[in-house]
Amino acid sequence: MISPKSIEIVKETARVEEVLGEFIDLRRAGVNMKGVCPFHDEKTPSFVVSPAKGIYKCFGCGKAGDSVRFLMDHEKLSYPEAIRWIAEKYNIELEETVVSDDVKKEIEKKESLFIINEFARKLYHEHMMQTREGKAIGLGYFKERGFLEKTVNQWGLGYAPGERDFLKNELKRNGYKLHLAEEIGLLKPDKDFFRSRIIFPIRNLSGKVIGFGARTLSSDKKIPKYLNSPESEIYNKRKTLFGLYFSKTEIRKKDNCFLVEGYTDVLSLHQNGIENVVASSGTSLTSDQVKLIKRFTENMTVLFDGDNAGIKAALRGLDIILEQDVNVRLVLLPEGEDPDSYVRKVGSSAFHQYIEDHAKDFILFKVDLLLQEAGNDPIKRSKVVKDIVHSISKIADTLKRNEYIKLCSKLLDISEKIINNEVNGLIKSNIQKEQAKLNRPVFRSEEDWKKDSGPKVEKPVEKSFDSESDEAQERDIARIIITMGDKLIDEDKNIQVADYIYTNIVGIIETFENPLYADIVQEVRNAFEDGKSVTPSYFLHHHREDIQHLAIDLSAEKYIYANWKQRGIELQTQDMPEKNQIKDSWQAILRLKSRKLQKILKSTEIKISEAATENSPDLDIQIKAYMKLKEDLAQINKILGTVVLK
Ligand code: UTP
Ligand code: MN
Repeated sequence: MISPKSIEIVKETARVEEVLGEFIDLRRAGVNMKGVCPFHDEKTPSFVVSPAKGIYKCFGCGKAGDSVRFLMDHEKLSYPEAIRWIAEKYNIELEETVVSDDVKKEIEKKESLFIINEFARKLYHEHMMQTREGKAIGLGYFKERGFLEKTVNQWGLGYAPGERDFLKNELKRNGYKLHLAEEIGLLKPDKDFFRSRIIFPIRNLSGKVIGFGARTLSSDKKIPKYLNSPESEIYNKRKTLFGLYFSKTEIRKKDNCFLVEGYTDVLSLHQNGIENVVASSGTSLTSDQVKLIKRFTENMTVLFDGDNAGIKAALRGLDIILEQDVNVRLVLLPEGEDPDSYVRKVGSSAFHQYIEDHAKDFILFKVDLLLQEAGNDPIKRSKVVKDIVHSISKIADTLKRNEYIKLCSKLLDISEKIINNEVNGLIKSNIQKEQAKLNRPVFRSEEDWKKDSGPKVEKPVEKSFDSESDEAQERDIARIIITMGDKLIDEDKNIQVADYIYTNIVGIIETFENPLYADIVQEVRNAFEDGKSVTPSYFLHHHREDIQHLAIDLSAEKYIYANWKQRGIELQTQDMPEKNQIKDSWQAILRLKSRKLQKILKSTEIKISEAATENSPDLDIQIKAYMKLKEDLAQINKILGTVVLK
């Protein structure tokens, strides 16, 4: 743990223009500095840095913060990592509050493992670039495959010679602990692990080498084509994507990430100017990997080899992308091509064109493929429906889910209602499963309570929303924040729904009748301060049980707006609220404010009459306040009147 005093020193020392200057070109512009925003694609600079205030703000996309926030946002560092980064830059010695010896040892050990990996990487690389054997065999192989030295150097590729003890001897000579090298799979008890292979270093998000992939140069089918480092204290395959370190900036800029299978695919695309690409390295994609990508973009394009036999199995695995609320498109490359061979064959612009022409939405791709296979066989067709319903149920976003239900109803020729029921059934059972895992009370719907014949659990009393209470409106605000707080209310200004609501409601949080709903509004701020943003899953996985429960309830709630009228909520049309987030949030805010104002007005009225009877000097002020409130209310009601009750 870094001591608070050290953190303060770091923050005081950091010059925002110097820290940001490591990542972007900044030019003087009066008292400020200006540059091209690294968070969105732009040509004319709208990213302004104020050295005096120590902050930055982009007038294009709205990103803003200080040096620490920038490192957290741009480099995806955690808070302590960002502090350490700055400390390193300015040679500030950090005072660490006491950590246990165990923790210290663990940190030191990890550091040693990184150092050994880096040593091995450099050794293999230099061996390839500087020795006759390395140049002839290793580098020769890369060149033959069309890789330029620039690529070889950037990625730190190398060659491990055939000798049994090449690495071991070098490690020994330089005083490294061999048992540590064994732990990360570089050495076996009696010999080097990688021999006669070209070496692909695998890095973590901050560029440290955590493992290696090593390809044989022999065409002997009996030996494995690739050997990979085993999992270790520093290498968790499920949380690693090959290429992410070198691709992250471009992924963010292009707001899309290509996913390919192989190391060479990533290298080849990079060399051809397509730098927003990562590889899952032969294993099936994990949700941790998707989360990693999601830090940089919410859009993925998965490239399948043209002769991919396992495509159907692979499709199942891709449902986890939908669960993370990431948009997926799929591209099937031409027969016999993989991304590497294809980009070399046609060049980058034709490659892009091919992707543009052939990228298909994941679910539609799946429907097409499966239907084609099923033909007219009714049993197979019903399996297709099940499969598709399964995928749709994984889509986290309600609005999107509905769009797909509509679309697939047409494609599969099945009524929307049936698909909707199936999907909702699955969602519910998924939630129940998750709940069961967490060993928490299960979410139960009205129907469940009715048909339940199992052990009797007392049914929670439905809160009745009487007309005096504002709870319905407060709940409405909470619903919007939870289910669509992360949506943009204004594309151009990059304002999120949750932020918009927060700024408009913050003044009346205290008047909330239901403290839980008030807390939901407050969460917008808490999340921001924690460097998070309020997504549905933020609430679904909230550490506070009551918040999590509310989130689950709201997410599972179907579109039951039938009894909204009773609750005093007027909907303009039959449209579901998600249809129009802006209007919806705006109206929800106004509805709530209108009710709150009415209440304040009433209490002011009482105060006025009291002040009048007592002939108090407050009378004047109260009357002024009253007039102002009345004016505000009239204005709100006017808007609500014209918008809502057209
Ligand atoms: P590929 O066989 O497509 O390899 O496997 P590649 O990377 O395109 O290599 P080239 O172009 O034939 O030289 C795709 C990925 O699957 C993993 C590797 O990560 C590889 O990049 N793989 C493959 C293994 O881990 N072990 C293997 O034996 C084969
Ligand atoms: Mn290949």
